[in-house]
Amino acid sequence: MSGAGEQKSAGSPSQAAGEEWSPSSWQSREATQLPEWPDEDAAREVYRQLRTLPPLVFAGEARRLVRALGQVAAGQAFVLQAGDCAESFDDFSADSIRDKLKVILQMAVVLTYGSGVPVVKIGRIAGQFAKPRSSPVERVGEVEIPAFRGHIVNDDIPVPAARVPDPSRMLTAYHQSAATLNLLRAFTKGGFADLSQVHSWNQQFLASSAEGRRYEAIAEEIDRALRFMRACGVDLTSDSPIHQVDLFTSHEALLLGYEEAMTRQDSLTGDWYDCSAHFLWVGERTHQIEGAHVEFVTGVKNPLGCKLGPSTTPEKVLEICERLNPDRLPGRLTLISRMGAASVRSLLPPLVKAVKESGHPVAWQCDPMHGNTFVSESGRKTRHFDDVLGEIQGYFAVHRALGSWPGGVHVELTGDDVTECLGGIGDILEEQLPLRYTTACDPRLNARQSIDLAFRVAELLRE
Ligand code: PEP
Ligand code: CO
Repeated sequence: MSGAGEQKSAGSPSQAAGEEWSPSSWQSREATQLPEWPDEDAAREVYRQLRTLPPLVFAGEARRLVRALGQVAAGQAFVLQAGDCAESFDDFSADSIRDKLKVILQMAVVLTYGSGVPVVKIGRIAGQFAKPRSSPVERVGEVEIPAFRGHIVNDDIPVPAARVPDPSRMLTAYHQSAATLNLLRAFTKGGFADLSQVHSWNQQFLASSAEGRRYEAIAEEIDRALRFMRACGVDLTSDSPIHQVDLFTSHEALLLGYEEAMTRQDSLTGDWYDCSAHFLWVGERTHQIEGAHVEFVTGVKNPLGCKLGPSTTPEKVLEICERLNPDRLPGRLTLISRMGAASVRSLLPPLVKAVKESGHPVAWQCDPMHGNTFVSESGRKTRHFDDVLGEIQGYFAVHRALGSWPGGVHVELTGDDVTECLGGIGDILEEQLPLRYTTACDPRLNARQSIDLAFRVAELLRE
Protein backbone atom coordinates (compact mmCIF):
# COMPACT_ATOMS: atom_id res chain seq x y z
CA MET A 1 0.00 0.00 0.00
CA SER A 2 1.51 3.26 -1.09
CA GLY A 3 2.53 5.94 1.35
CA ALA A 4 1.82 3.85 4.43
CA GLY A 5 4.39 5.67 6.50
CA GLU A 6 4.31 5.90 10.25
CA GLN A 7 1.41 8.16 11.16
CA LYS A 8 1.08 10.07 14.42
CA SER A 9 -2.21 10.58 16.20
CA ALA A 10 -4.02 13.88 16.33
CA GLY A 11 -4.38 15.77 19.59
CA SER A 12 -7.29 15.16 21.89
CA PRO A 13 -10.67 16.63 20.97
CA SER A 14 -10.57 18.48 24.28
CA GLN A 15 -7.28 20.29 23.69
CA ALA A 16 -7.46 24.09 23.54
CA ALA A 17 -7.74 25.48 20.03
CA GLY A 18 -5.66 28.46 18.97
CA GLU A 19 -5.81 30.63 15.87
CA GLU A 20 -3.57 28.24 13.96
CA TRP A 21 -5.17 25.23 12.34
CA SER A 22 -4.88 22.01 14.27
CA PRO A 23 -7.00 18.84 14.12
CA SER A 24 -9.00 20.31 17.03
CA SER A 25 -9.18 23.98 15.98
CA TRP A 26 -12.73 23.41 14.71
CA GLN A 27 -13.79 23.23 18.35
CA SER A 28 -13.56 26.98 18.76
CA ARG A 29 -15.96 27.50 15.81
CA GLU A 30 -19.69 27.30 15.68
CA ALA A 31 -20.74 23.76 14.79
CA THR A 32 -24.13 22.67 13.56
CA GLN A 33 -25.47 19.13 13.19
CA LEU A 34 -23.28 17.58 15.91
CA PRO A 35 -24.88 15.26 18.50
CA GLU A 36 -24.70 15.95 22.21
CA TRP A 37 -23.28 12.84 23.80
CA PRO A 38 -25.12 12.28 27.08
CA ASP A 39 -21.92 11.01 28.69
CA GLU A 40 -18.94 13.22 27.75
CA ASP A 41 -16.46 10.94 29.54
CA ALA A 42 -17.60 7.97 27.49
CA ALA A 43 -17.14 10.00 24.31
CA ARG A 44 -13.64 11.06 25.38
CA GLU A 45 -12.72 7.43 26.00
CA VAL A 46 -13.94 6.50 22.50
CA TYR A 47 -11.84 9.29 20.94
CA ARG A 48 -8.84 8.05 22.90
CA GLN A 49 -9.31 4.55 21.50
CA LEU A 50 -9.88 5.79 17.95
CA ARG A 51 -6.61 7.70 18.10
CA THR A 52 -4.73 4.51 18.86
CA LEU A 53 -6.33 2.50 16.04
CA PRO A 54 -4.69 2.11 12.63
CA PRO A 55 -5.57 4.58 9.88
CA LEU A 56 -8.15 3.27 7.41
CA VAL A 57 -6.53 4.90 4.39
CA PHE A 58 -3.06 6.20 3.73
CA ALA A 59 -1.71 9.61 2.84
CA GLY A 60 -0.13 8.33 -0.37
CA GLU A 61 -3.50 7.03 -1.56
CA ALA A 62 -5.16 10.38 -0.86
CA ARG A 63 -2.42 12.10 -2.84
CA ARG A 64 -3.02 9.69 -5.72
CA LEU A 65 -6.70 10.66 -5.70
CA VAL A 66 -5.81 14.36 -5.73
CA ARG A 67 -3.81 13.70 -8.91
CA ALA A 68 -6.66 11.72 -10.46
CA LEU A 69 -9.13 14.49 -9.66
CA GLY A 70 -6.64 16.98 -11.09
CA GLN A 71 -7.20 15.16 -14.39
CA VAL A 72 -10.94 15.65 -13.90
CA ALA A 73 -10.43 19.37 -13.27
CA ALA A 74 -8.38 19.51 -16.49
CA GLY A 75 -11.21 17.90 -18.48
CA GLN A 76 -9.31 14.67 -19.06
CA ALA A 77 -11.22 12.27 -16.81
CA PHE A 78 -14.71 11.76 -15.42
CA VAL A 79 -15.59 10.85 -11.85
CA LEU A 80 -18.26 8.45 -10.66
CA GLN A 81 -18.99 8.86 -6.96
CA ALA A 82 -21.65 6.44 -5.75
CA GLY A 83 -22.99 4.47 -2.85
CA ASP A 84 -25.46 4.53 -0.01
CA CYS A 85 -27.00 7.65 1.40
CA ALA A 86 -26.24 6.15 4.79
CA GLU A 87 -24.47 2.87 5.43
CA SER A 88 -26.22 0.71 7.98
CA PHE A 89 -25.02 -1.41 10.89
CA ASP A 90 -27.93 -3.79 10.18
CA ASP A 91 -27.52 -4.23 6.44
CA PHE A 92 -23.84 -5.18 6.52
CA SER A 93 -22.70 -8.26 4.64
CA ALA A 94 -20.10 -9.39 2.16
CA ASP A 95 -22.87 -9.89 -0.40
CA SER A 96 -24.20 -6.36 -0.16
CA ILE A 97 -20.70 -4.86 -0.42
CA ARG A 98 -19.94 -7.09 -3.41
CA ASP A 99 -23.18 -6.20 -5.15
CA LYS A 100 -22.64 -2.48 -4.63
CA LEU A 101 -19.13 -2.82 -6.03
CA LYS A 102 -20.48 -4.76 -9.01
CA VAL A 103 -22.86 -1.94 -9.91
CA ILE A 104 -20.14 0.69 -9.56
CA LEU A 105 -17.76 -1.37 -11.74
CA GLN A 106 -20.50 -1.92 -14.32
CA MET A 107 -21.37 1.76 -14.42
CA ALA A 108 -17.68 2.63 -14.78
CA VAL A 109 -17.31 0.19 -17.67
CA VAL A 110 -20.34 1.64 -19.42
CA LEU A 111 -19.03 5.18 -18.90
CA THR A 112 -15.46 4.39 -19.95
CA TYR A 113 -16.44 2.31 -22.95
CA GLY A 114 -19.14 4.71 -24.01
CA SER A 115 -17.10 7.87 -23.70
CA GLY A 116 -13.47 6.83 -24.10
CA VAL A 117 -12.62 8.90 -21.03
CA PRO A 118 -10.93 7.44 -17.91
CA VAL A 119 -13.33 7.13 -14.98
CA VAL A 120 -12.21 7.86 -11.42
CA LYS A 121 -14.23 5.65 -9.06
CA ILE A 122 -15.15 6.84 -5.57
CA GLY A 123 -17.53 4.93 -3.30
CA ARG A 124 -19.76 6.49 -0.69
CA ILE A 125 -18.68 3.53 1.36
CA ALA A 126 -16.57 2.32 4.29
CA GLY A 127 -17.45 5.30 6.48
CA GLN A 128 -20.59 7.00 5.14
CA PHE A 129 -22.53 6.78 8.40
CA ALA A 130 -23.24 10.26 9.80
CA LYS A 131 -26.31 12.15 8.52
CA PRO A 132 -27.16 15.84 8.70
CA ARG A 133 -30.87 16.45 9.28
CA SER A 134 -33.15 19.29 8.23
CA SER A 135 -35.06 18.95 11.50
CA PRO A 136 -33.63 17.85 14.88
CA VAL A 137 -36.87 16.00 15.62
CA GLU A 138 -39.10 13.55 13.85
CA ARG A 139 -42.85 13.07 14.33
CA VAL A 140 -43.96 9.53 15.01
CA GLY A 141 -47.74 9.47 15.29
CA GLU A 142 -48.57 11.92 18.04
CA VAL A 143 -45.08 12.19 19.56
CA GLU A 144 -41.89 13.95 18.63
CA ILE A 145 -38.64 12.06 19.02
CA PRO A 146 -35.04 13.10 18.25
CA ALA A 147 -34.08 12.61 14.59
CA PHE A 148 -32.02 9.67 13.37
CA ARG A 149 -28.47 10.94 12.73
CA GLY A 150 -26.90 7.86 11.16
CA HIS A 151 -25.80 4.62 12.77
CA ILE A 152 -22.53 6.19 13.92
CA VAL A 153 -24.64 8.32 16.31
CA ASN A 154 -27.97 6.64 17.13
CA ASP A 155 -30.41 4.00 15.89
CA ASP A 156 -33.13 4.44 13.32
CA ILE A 157 -35.82 2.54 15.26
CA PRO A 158 -38.56 5.12 15.88
CA VAL A 159 -38.59 5.02 19.67
CA PRO A 160 -37.05 7.69 21.93
CA ALA A 161 -34.52 5.37 23.64
CA ALA A 162 -33.02 4.33 20.29
CA ARG A 163 -32.38 7.95 19.38
CA VAL A 164 -30.12 8.73 22.34
CA PRO A 165 -26.61 9.35 20.91
CA ASP A 166 -24.23 6.56 21.90
CA PRO A 167 -20.49 7.25 21.41
CA SER A 168 -19.57 3.55 21.34
CA ARG A 169 -21.22 3.53 17.91
CA MET A 170 -18.17 5.41 16.59
CA LEU A 171 -16.03 2.35 17.35
CA THR A 172 -18.54 0.08 15.62
CA ALA A 173 -18.47 2.40 12.61
CA TYR A 174 -14.68 2.32 12.57
CA HIS A 175 -14.59 -1.48 12.65
CA GLN A 176 -17.31 -1.84 10.02
CA SER A 177 -15.41 0.61 7.82
CA ALA A 178 -12.20 -1.40 8.30
CA ALA A 179 -13.92 -4.68 7.40
CA THR A 180 -15.64 -3.09 4.39
CA LEU A 181 -12.39 -1.59 3.15
CA ASN A 182 -10.60 -4.89 3.62
CA LEU A 183 -13.13 -6.63 1.40
CA LEU A 184 -13.06 -3.83 -1.17
CA ARG A 185 -9.28 -3.98 -1.34
CA ALA A 186 -9.46 -7.76 -1.84
CA PHE A 187 -12.12 -7.45 -4.54
CA THR A 188 -10.47 -4.60 -6.43
CA LYS A 189 -6.90 -5.88 -6.25
CA GLY A 190 -7.39 -9.65 -6.07
CA GLY A 191 -8.97 -10.59 -9.39
CA PHE A 192 -12.68 -9.86 -8.97
CA ALA A 193 -12.38 -6.48 -10.71
CA ASP A 194 -10.21 -7.91 -13.52
CA LEU A 195 -11.63 -6.76 -16.86
CA SER A 196 -11.80 -10.41 -17.96
CA GLN A 197 -14.52 -10.77 -15.27
CA VAL A 198 -16.64 -8.08 -16.89
CA HIS A 199 -19.49 -10.57 -17.56
CA SER A 200 -19.64 -11.83 -13.99
CA TRP A 201 -20.51 -8.38 -12.61
CA ASN A 202 -23.88 -8.60 -14.31
CA GLN A 203 -26.15 -9.93 -11.58
CA GLN A 204 -28.68 -12.57 -12.51
CA PHE A 205 -31.75 -10.39 -12.03
CA LEU A 206 -30.08 -7.76 -14.18
CA ALA A 207 -28.88 -9.98 -17.00
CA SER A 208 -32.41 -10.71 -18.21
CA SER A 209 -33.43 -7.04 -18.35
CA ALA A 210 -33.04 -4.68 -21.30
CA GLU A 211 -30.21 -2.67 -19.76
CA GLY A 212 -28.59 -5.90 -18.53
CA ARG A 213 -28.49 -7.14 -22.12
CA ARG A 214 -27.18 -3.79 -23.29
CA TYR A 215 -24.41 -4.15 -20.73
CA GLU A 216 -23.72 -7.73 -21.91
CA ALA A 217 -23.14 -6.38 -25.42
CA ILE A 218 -20.41 -4.06 -24.13
CA ALA A 219 -18.93 -6.87 -22.05
CA GLU A 220 -18.78 -9.03 -25.18
CA GLU A 221 -17.01 -6.21 -27.08
CA ILE A 222 -14.47 -5.91 -24.28
CA ASP A 223 -13.89 -9.68 -24.40
CA ARG A 224 -13.30 -9.48 -28.11
CA ALA A 225 -10.88 -6.58 -27.68
CA LEU A 226 -8.94 -8.56 -25.06
CA ARG A 227 -8.87 -11.65 -27.34
CA PHE A 228 -7.66 -9.48 -30.18
CA MET A 229 -4.87 -8.00 -28.08
CA ARG A 230 -3.79 -11.45 -26.91
CA ALA A 231 -3.81 -12.73 -30.49
CA CYS A 232 -1.58 -9.83 -31.46
CA GLY A 233 0.92 -10.96 -28.86
CA VAL A 234 0.17 -8.34 -26.21
CA ASP A 235 1.06 -9.90 -22.86
CA LEU A 236 -2.04 -9.48 -20.71
CA THR A 237 -0.93 -11.88 -18.00
CA SER A 238 1.53 -9.55 -16.30
CA ASP A 239 0.42 -7.05 -13.73
CA SER A 240 -1.38 -4.49 -15.81
CA PRO A 241 -4.17 -1.97 -15.26
CA ILE A 242 -6.76 -4.37 -16.65
CA HIS A 243 -6.34 -6.70 -13.66
CA GLN A 244 -7.01 -4.20 -10.87
CA VAL A 245 -9.00 -1.07 -10.25
CA ASP A 246 -8.65 1.79 -7.80
CA LEU A 247 -11.80 2.35 -5.81
CA PHE A 248 -11.43 5.28 -3.45
CA THR A 249 -13.63 5.80 -0.38
CA SER A 250 -15.51 8.90 0.71
CA HIS A 251 -18.03 10.25 3.18
CA GLU A 252 -19.37 13.52 4.50
CA ALA A 253 -16.98 15.02 7.06
CA LEU A 254 -19.82 15.63 9.47
CA LEU A 255 -19.04 14.03 12.83
CA LEU A 256 -16.02 16.15 13.63
CA GLY A 257 -14.94 14.43 16.86
CA TYR A 258 -14.62 11.17 14.93
CA GLU A 259 -12.84 12.83 12.00
CA GLU A 260 -10.44 14.60 14.34
CA ALA A 261 -9.60 11.35 16.11
CA MET A 262 -8.89 9.71 12.72
CA THR A 263 -6.54 12.51 11.64
CA ARG A 264 -2.87 11.62 11.45
CA GLN A 265 0.33 13.42 10.51
CA ASP A 266 2.03 11.83 7.51
CA SER A 267 5.62 10.99 8.39
CA LEU A 268 6.80 11.49 4.81
CA THR A 269 5.53 15.04 4.31
CA GLY A 270 4.53 16.27 7.77
CA ASP A 271 1.08 17.03 6.38
CA TRP A 272 -2.16 16.14 8.14
CA TYR A 273 -4.56 13.64 6.58
CA ASP A 274 -7.97 12.56 7.76
CA CYS A 275 -7.33 8.83 7.48
CA SER A 276 -11.02 7.83 7.78
CA ALA A 277 -11.47 8.07 3.97
CA HIS A 278 -9.67 9.22 0.85
CA PHE A 279 -12.19 11.92 -0.11
CA LEU A 280 -14.24 14.02 2.30
CA TRP A 281 -17.01 16.42 1.52
CA VAL A 282 -18.75 19.21 3.37
CA GLY A 283 -22.52 19.03 3.11
CA GLU A 284 -25.12 21.60 2.13
CA ARG A 285 -26.05 22.20 5.78
CA THR A 286 -22.52 22.68 7.17
CA HIS A 287 -20.54 24.74 4.65
CA GLN A 288 -20.61 28.00 6.62
CA ILE A 289 -17.28 29.66 5.76
CA GLU A 290 -16.44 30.47 9.39
CA GLY A 291 -18.04 27.30 10.76
CA ALA A 292 -16.46 24.26 12.37
CA HIS A 293 -16.80 21.86 9.43
CA VAL A 294 -15.06 24.13 6.94
CA GLU A 295 -12.38 24.92 9.53
CA PHE A 296 -11.66 21.22 10.04
CA VAL A 297 -11.25 20.29 6.38
CA THR A 298 -9.05 23.27 5.49
CA GLY A 299 -6.15 21.70 7.41
CA VAL A 300 -6.22 18.15 6.07
CA LYS A 301 -4.66 17.44 2.69
CA ASN A 302 -7.28 14.97 1.47
CA PRO A 303 -9.13 15.84 -1.70
CA LEU A 304 -12.28 17.73 -0.66
CA GLY A 305 -15.78 18.21 -1.95
CA CYS A 306 -18.37 20.83 -1.13
CA LYS A 307 -22.08 20.55 -1.89
CA LEU A 308 -23.72 23.56 -3.52
CA GLY A 309 -27.47 23.88 -3.14
CA PRO A 310 -29.98 26.28 -4.75
CA SER A 311 -29.25 29.20 -2.40
CA THR A 312 -25.53 29.31 -3.26
CA THR A 313 -24.34 32.67 -4.64
CA PRO A 314 -21.30 33.23 -6.89
CA GLU A 315 -19.65 35.16 -4.03
CA LYS A 316 -20.10 32.18 -1.73
CA VAL A 317 -18.58 29.76 -4.26
CA LEU A 318 -15.53 31.95 -4.63
CA GLU A 319 -15.17 32.13 -0.84
CA ILE A 320 -15.33 28.34 -0.72
CA CYS A 321 -12.67 28.06 -3.44
CA GLU A 322 -10.37 30.49 -1.62
CA ARG A 323 -10.86 28.87 1.75
CA LEU A 324 -10.66 25.21 0.70
CA ASN A 325 -8.08 25.57 -2.05
CA PRO A 326 -6.05 28.77 -1.50
CA ASP A 327 -3.05 27.23 -3.30
CA ARG A 328 -5.19 26.45 -6.35
CA LEU A 329 -4.04 22.86 -6.49
CA PRO A 330 -5.88 20.96 -9.25
CA GLY A 331 -7.75 18.00 -7.75
CA ARG A 332 -7.92 19.43 -4.24
CA LEU A 333 -11.46 20.76 -4.62
CA THR A 334 -14.56 19.25 -6.18
CA LEU A 335 -17.73 21.36 -6.30
CA ILE A 336 -20.85 19.22 -6.18
CA SER A 337 -23.95 21.03 -7.42
CA ARG A 338 -27.36 19.73 -6.28
CA MET A 339 -29.86 22.27 -7.56
CA GLY A 340 -32.85 20.16 -8.58
CA ALA A 341 -33.92 19.33 -12.12
CA ALA A 342 -36.18 22.38 -12.37
CA SER A 343 -33.51 24.89 -11.27
CA VAL A 344 -30.17 23.63 -12.50
CA ARG A 345 -30.34 25.45 -15.85
CA SER A 346 -30.92 28.82 -14.18
CA LEU A 347 -28.99 28.49 -10.90
CA LEU A 348 -25.80 26.74 -12.01
CA PRO A 349 -24.53 29.07 -14.80
CA PRO A 350 -23.63 32.06 -12.56
CA LEU A 351 -21.61 29.74 -10.31
CA VAL A 352 -19.73 28.06 -13.17
CA LYS A 353 -19.03 31.46 -14.75
CA ALA A 354 -17.69 32.93 -11.51
CA VAL A 355 -15.37 29.97 -10.93
CA LYS A 356 -14.18 30.03 -14.52
CA GLU A 357 -13.40 33.74 -14.36
CA SER A 358 -11.55 33.34 -11.07
CA GLY A 359 -9.24 30.75 -12.64
CA HIS A 360 -9.75 28.33 -9.75
CA PRO A 361 -9.09 24.75 -10.89
CA VAL A 362 -12.10 22.78 -9.68
CA ALA A 363 -13.56 19.43 -10.60
CA TRP A 364 -17.33 19.78 -11.08
CA GLN A 365 -19.76 17.06 -10.08
CA CYS A 366 -23.52 16.81 -10.32
CA ASP A 367 -25.45 15.30 -7.42
CA PRO A 368 -28.84 14.78 -9.07
CA MET A 369 -30.34 13.18 -5.96
CA HIS A 370 -30.63 15.69 -3.13
CA GLY A 371 -32.34 18.50 -5.04
CA ASN A 372 -35.03 16.11 -6.29
CA THR A 373 -36.32 14.44 -3.13
CA PHE A 374 -39.99 14.60 -2.25
CA VAL A 375 -42.41 12.76 -0.01
CA SER A 376 -44.77 10.45 -1.88
CA GLU A 377 -48.47 10.17 -1.10
CA SER A 378 -47.76 7.10 1.00
CA GLY A 379 -45.39 9.19 3.11
CA ARG A 380 -42.12 7.77 1.80
CA LYS A 381 -39.19 9.92 0.70
CA THR A 382 -38.55 9.27 -2.96
CA ARG A 383 -37.08 10.64 -6.19
CA HIS A 384 -38.15 10.20 -9.77
CA PHE A 385 -35.65 8.77 -12.25
CA ASP A 386 -36.71 11.40 -14.81
CA ASP A 387 -35.74 14.20 -12.41
CA VAL A 388 -32.40 12.55 -11.66
CA LEU A 389 -31.69 12.27 -15.37
CA GLY A 390 -33.16 15.73 -16.00
CA GLU A 391 -30.78 17.39 -13.56
CA ILE A 392 -27.80 15.63 -15.15
CA GLN A 393 -28.96 16.72 -18.62
CA GLY A 394 -29.26 20.31 -17.39
CA TYR A 395 -25.84 20.11 -15.76
CA PHE A 396 -24.25 18.91 -19.02
CA ALA A 397 -26.04 21.62 -21.00
CA VAL A 398 -24.84 24.37 -18.63
CA HIS A 399 -21.22 23.23 -18.66
CA ARG A 400 -21.20 22.70 -22.40
CA ALA A 401 -22.64 26.18 -23.02
CA LEU A 402 -19.99 27.78 -20.81
CA GLY A 403 -17.06 25.78 -22.14
CA SER A 404 -16.54 24.04 -18.82
CA TRP A 405 -16.05 20.29 -18.23
CA PRO A 406 -18.99 18.43 -16.62
CA GLY A 407 -16.54 16.39 -14.56
CA GLY A 408 -18.70 13.78 -12.91
CA VAL A 409 -21.81 12.49 -11.24
CA HIS A 410 -22.53 11.72 -7.59
CA VAL A 411 -25.36 9.28 -6.98
CA GLU A 412 -27.00 7.32 -4.19
CA LEU A 413 -27.44 3.70 -5.24
CA THR A 414 -27.41 0.11 -4.08
CA GLY A 415 -26.69 -3.19 -5.79
CA ASP A 416 -29.98 -4.56 -4.49
CA ASP A 417 -33.27 -4.72 -6.33
CA VAL A 418 -34.94 -2.10 -4.12
CA THR A 419 -38.02 -0.01 -4.88
CA GLU A 420 -37.07 3.39 -3.51
CA CYS A 421 -36.86 5.70 -6.54
CA LEU A 422 -39.77 6.03 -8.96
CA GLY A 423 -39.75 5.46 -12.70
CA GLY A 424 -36.76 4.40 -14.74
CA ILE A 425 -36.44 1.37 -16.88
CA GLY A 426 -38.49 -0.93 -14.62
CA ASP A 427 -40.98 1.93 -14.23
CA ILE A 428 -41.41 1.73 -10.49
CA LEU A 429 -44.78 3.10 -9.48
CA GLU A 430 -45.84 4.90 -6.34
CA GLU A 431 -47.76 1.85 -5.08
CA GLN A 432 -44.66 -0.33 -5.50
CA LEU A 433 -42.48 1.75 -3.16
CA PRO A 434 -43.37 -0.30 -0.04
CA LEU A 435 -42.33 -3.58 -1.70
CA ARG A 436 -38.60 -3.31 -1.07
CA TYR A 437 -37.94 0.04 0.58
CA THR A 438 -34.96 -0.66 2.84
CA THR A 439 -32.79 2.47 2.88
CA ALA A 440 -31.53 3.75 6.22
CA CYS A 441 -31.98 7.33 4.98
CA ASP A 442 -32.55 8.67 1.44
CA PRO A 443 -34.02 6.65 -1.48
CA ARG A 444 -31.40 5.00 -3.70
CA LEU A 445 -31.36 4.00 -7.35
CA ASN A 446 -31.53 0.22 -7.69
CA ALA A 447 -29.09 -1.76 -9.82
CA ARG A 448 -31.19 -1.55 -13.01
CA GLN A 449 -31.84 2.18 -12.65
CA SER A 450 -28.12 2.74 -12.00
CA ILE A 451 -26.93 0.89 -15.11
CA ASP A 452 -29.57 2.63 -17.19
CA LEU A 453 -28.38 5.99 -15.84
CA ALA A 454 -24.78 5.11 -16.73
CA PHE A 455 -25.84 4.49 -20.36
CA ARG A 456 -27.60 7.86 -20.45
CA VAL A 457 -24.59 9.67 -18.99
CA ALA A 458 -22.26 7.91 -21.45
CA GLU A 459 -24.48 9.20 -24.27
CA LEU A 460 -24.23 12.74 -22.90
CA LEU A 461 -20.45 12.40 -22.65
CA ARG A 462 -20.27 11.31 -26.27
CA GLU A 463 -22.30 14.20 -27.61
C1 PEP B 1 -25.89 13.50 1.21
O1 PEP B 1 -25.07 13.56 0.30
O2 PEP B 1 -26.32 12.43 1.67
C2 PEP B 1 -26.46 14.77 1.74
C3 PEP B 1 -27.05 14.84 2.91
O3 PEP B 1 -26.33 15.77 0.86
P1 PEP B 1 -26.60 17.35 1.01
O4 PEP B 1 -25.64 17.83 2.06
O5 PEP B 1 -26.26 17.85 -0.35
O6 PEP B 1 -28.04 17.54 1.37
CO1 CO C 1 -28.58 11.37 0.94
